Amino acid sequence: YFLGLDLGTSAVKCILVDDTGHVTASHSVEYPLYQPHPGWAEQHPEDWWMATVEGIRALIQKAGIQGNEIAGIGFSGQMHGSVFLDEAQQVIRPALLWCDQRTGEQCEYIENTVGREELGRLTGNKALTGFTAPKIIWLRDQEPEHYERVRHVLLPKDYVRLRLTGEFGMDMADASGTLLLDVAGRKWSETVVDRLGIPMAWLPPLFESGDVAGKLLPEAAALTGLAAGTPIVAGGGDQACGAVGVGVVRHGIASVALGTSGVVFVHDDTYQADEACRLHSFCHGVPGKWHRMGVMLAAGGSFQWWRNHFAHEELEQAKREGKDVYEILTAEAEAAPLGSEGLIFLPYLSGERTPHPDPKARGGFIGLNLRHGKAHLTRAILEGITFGLYDSMQLIKESGIEVTELRVNGGGARSPFWRQMIADIFGIPVVTVNSTDGPAYGAAIMAASGVLQEDITTLCEKWIQVVDRMEPIAENHNRYNSYYQIYRKLYGTLKETFH
Ligand code: XUL
Repeated sequence: YFLGLDLGTSAVKCILVDDTGHVTASHSVEYPLYQPHPGWAEQHPEDWWMATVEGIRALIQKAGIQGNEIAGIGFSGQMHGSVFLDEAQQVIRPALLWCDQRTGEQCEYIENTVGREELGRLTGNKALTGFTAPKIIWLRDQEPEHYERVRHVLLPKDYVRLRLTGEFGMDMADASGTLLLDVAGRKWSETVVDRLGIPMAWLPPLFESGDVAGKLLPEAAALTGLAAGTPIVAGGGDQACGAVGVGVVRHGIASVALGTSGVVFVHDDTYQADEACRLHSFCHGVPGKWHRMGVMLAAGGSFQWWRNHFAHEELEQAKREGKDVYEILTAEAEAAPLGSEGLIFLPYLSGERTPHPDPKARGGFIGLNLRHGKAHLTRAILEGITFGLYDSMQLIKESGIEVTELRVNGGGARSPFWRQMIADIFGIPVVTVNSTDGPAYGAAIMAASGVLQEDITTLCEKWIQVVDRMEPIAENHNRYNSYYQIYRKLYGTLKETFH
């Protein structure tokens, strides 16, 4: 068996995969998220550790196997978070997370110090508040007494792996989100690290995702019920692992992840920087490969907002009939006409990253008239989210990558209506695959790759099958496109009013 762990923002998910790729058991353990000030988001690394130990123990028990039947462990994790450790490897303060927005000033400082274009050239990315380097600079600016004590900086899952193996390490996919990696060269950028005055010794050795990065310590084995010496691979950030988990490991295949946030992710055989860095350019979890992605902050999050505040009747109905409230809402949306009779929803409820890196962007319904009812509004939300994702696909197209297949995953992928809408708006066939365990499954594939010495790509091809395919309908594509042209103009037109 292989163990896939995904250290998420709300919980750690542990899955057990057999040597034919079947998931035989899974178990999740939650932990709290702290928001001590508006825009701040922190977690205690000790909570991650305790939850992981508990999760592994419970999983082994549920599956009714012995710890020594697990041949390898792979780790996926929430990206960008900063774990600051002192000389004795003790955590100095709670970790700042990917969704923490406190580092606006530090991003400006980084762009001024390294040079905006130079930073893009060296790292493939621009300074965004969620990334790790701005968090290190924030610590230096705001908590110098803590900064003084720092000897190591790790990403969330790499801290937990340190506790399991005693070894420091980080994979290149996750390291890409630090803003300190030379993404093209798959090594730390000495220039950026140096210009920011960050000691290189703080950064761990780098690995490819399927490389064995340590073996389980006897004390960790005693706590988890696993066998001492079990190999643990480096794993990857949750986006790279999620993509591997649905088989986005070849040219021409992209994924659309419909979670709270929405991500359009495309595999890249070679590194090509987007000059303006409008997309993130990162190392992939597949050795020697890259990927690009656009990240939308409130995809499923916009729909969830609608459900929470404006779907009382549907929530009642769902309870009464034992149905999923989202299913009821999408059925209502389906009853409204394509294009919602000219009603357009802007999905920037949490600000935006791609293609408008603007924390102050806001949402809206534009074009309301007296004919519009609730079904129109619900449909407009789904269309607006999909237009926002299509914006990222435009950037991917502009960069010269031709996408022939979209693999849709995450909660939103359950709706056939939404999947067809994506196929129609993007003009690309949408498929779903048999693996639905997301990043944890990708992490298990990486573990299998390290232990069996088999390519990640080969394992994906063996274990992952397409189970459903929807073709775009040309007429719908054209009709949606006329609404998309209006959608596209709205951010620029309204930008000033958001500030
Ligand atoms: C990617 C990103 C998110 C977090 C959430 O850039 O910020 O995927 O990793 O888990």
